[in-house]
Amino acid sequence: MASDASVDNLAKQFSHLPALDKYPNCFPDINPTDIYRSHLTSILSSITGVDPKIVYPALQWTATLDKGDIVLPIPALRIKGKPDVLGSEWVSKWPGSTLVETPVLNGAFISFFFKPGPLTQTLIPLALKHRKDFGTNKAVGLRDQSDPSKGQKRIIVEFSSPNIAKPFHAGHLRSTIIGGFLANLYEAAGWDVVRINYLGDWGKQYGLLALGYEKYGNEDDLTKDPINHLFQVYVKINVDIKDEQDKAEKFEADGKPEEAQKIRDEGLDEQARRYFKLMTENDEKAIAMWKRFRDLSITRYKQTYARLNIHFDDYSGESQVAEADMEEAANKMREMGLTEEDRGAQLIDFSKHVSGKQGKSLGKVILRKKDGTALYLTRDISELLNREKKYKFDQMIYVIASQQDLHCQQFFKVVELMGYKDIAAKVQHINFGMVLGMSTRKGTVKFLDDILRDVGEHMHNVMRKNEDKYNQVENPDAVADTLGISSVMVQDMSGKRGNNYTFDINTMTSFEGDTGPYLQYAHARLSSITRKAGLSEEQIATADLSLLTEPHAVNLVRVLSQWPDVVSNTLRTLEPTTILTYLFKMTHTLSSSYDVLRVVGSEHEVMRARMALYDAARVVLNNGMRLLGLSPVERM
Ligand code: ARG
Repeated sequence: MASDASVDNLAKQFSHLPALDKYPNCFPDINPTDIYRSHLTSILSSITGVDPKIVYPALQWTATLDKGDIVLPIPALRIKGKPDVLGSEWVSKWPGSTLVETPVLNGAFISFFFKPGPLTQTLIPLALKHRKDFGTNKAVGLRDQSDPSKGQKRIIVEFSSPNIAKPFHAGHLRSTIIGGFLANLYEAAGWDVVRINYLGDWGKQYGLLALGYEKYGNEDDLTKDPINHLFQVYVKINVDIKDEQDKAEKFEADGKPEEAQKIRDEGLDEQARRYFKLMTENDEKAIAMWKRFRDLSITRYKQTYARLNIHFDDYSGESQVAEADMEEAANKMREMGLTEEDRGAQLIDFSKHVSGKQGKSLGKVILRKKDGTALYLTRDISELLNREKKYKFDQMIYVIASQQDLHCQQFFKVVELMGYKDIAAKVQHINFGMVLGMSTRKGTVKFLDDILRDVGEHMHNVMRKNEDKYNQVENPDAVADTLGISSVMVQDMSGKRGNNYTFDINTMTSFEGDTGPYLQYAHARLSSITRKAGLSEEQIATADLSLLTEPHAVNLVRVLSQWPDVVSNTLRTLEPTTILTYLFKMTHTLSSSYDVLRVVGSEHEVMRARMALYDAARVVLNNGMRLLGLSPVERM
């Protein structure tokens, strides 16, 4: 709830506004639309006799300006009667307002259009005052509204989570981009965000990797480029293991079972199993080697993540789950009668514990293998219980591809069946579709760095086509790199998360259409206008905003005033496209206004006012881009 102090403060700053009533989740000092919602609630509640608590949340934002700035779906007030009849009665009782035009009835909806003057006077100073925080809820925090003493809420976002020595595939790319965005979003909403990377860094394959390194590895390549080197080693040793298996099969077919058995008893696969066993038993040498691979890989990952403005608070991983914890969990499940033995392995048959269709669709899953080793799912369970102890989180999001939908459903269900209902209620799987055709000129993509380098080079070529402009760019390599990264990220976040999309270098790097380079261009253009105008902050802050009367200016202000609502709506959709769609709508409005609302060359007072408007637009664009994880460029 907005505190008295903040409303008083607002009243002082915006003396042109009427006195506001206070409503839950109403933050008029950071969200201009809340001022209008509060104002409209008071009027509508006195016209209709409906409790303000019902009116306030019924007032919705609109997708396009022709529908008004706020719309009321009449049935949402829960009054008996035909909506259009009620609507026309209410509209006829409209008392007039300094902030809002006479409402327009549209079937079962009433549209409200904000009067331009007061909106401009409110929006621009608010955006320029809060700057980097405009649209965020940091000042207020998403504290428990009913009990502020509970303080800031904590959320864990687990994302990226690649597998050491294996390719960083499209699933990891999307998890990185979407997870980074969600973490920023919650942070902007005032949450305490913990970013966790849960590496695939444990299992028999890391025993095999160690054997491969003994055979094919070398110190120089490892330190220079650990991720690539370990991958190459892993590929080579996998070829060897495949050869062995082929040989064994051949012996089998040729009637030489002893020879085949010899391979099975002493071959690479068995050696890898033994090596991994040493690792689980904490063998000093084996662990030291593995830890080195892991540390070097993390160092390298960190450099790449930094290019995407991403950092992690914790590099966890499958290796970090203690055997003892998993054994404890397995015992608990057995004692509760959840698991059963099947040829030495421990499994859970969901159809016996969950009724109906759900139980069937969850199927059966093994939690512990015959030799007592744990599995992916088992590790996830213990890791979750450990995170609960370590972080005492209020919510946790797992950003993992849709291919693992079933895994996540089984995982959360087991936790619930184990009696941790409260924990299961706090976790959420955020999934996403596949990337089709992800290959570049150099072939199929294997690592994040390859993707970024390739797209960056492509972008550099696109830039070279406009020679005049290209020659003015100070550091074309760095700009091309940033634009390339923006291309990849914007294409990834353009559609709904759940959709598949086709990785298309030509489309994503184009300046036409709703692309990363288009957004960057819009930002660079605003920055350039700011530079050319050369006005001081003071000159902009004290501009006479009543000069902004043109329809283009008014519409731009209306779109900008939606920004804080867009951010809070995104917290419901958890879709990056909610932000992107808005940013493209805003930048289209912006670019159509340049010819009409010139800054440089206009009369000085007009220039100041327009600069204030564009400055507010730049604040919104910059904040939106950073929320998505992009680095806005000043020149390009
Ligand atoms: N490393 C896994 C993979 O590449 C993803 C891990 C997802 N997170 C989890 N808690 N299971 O498939």
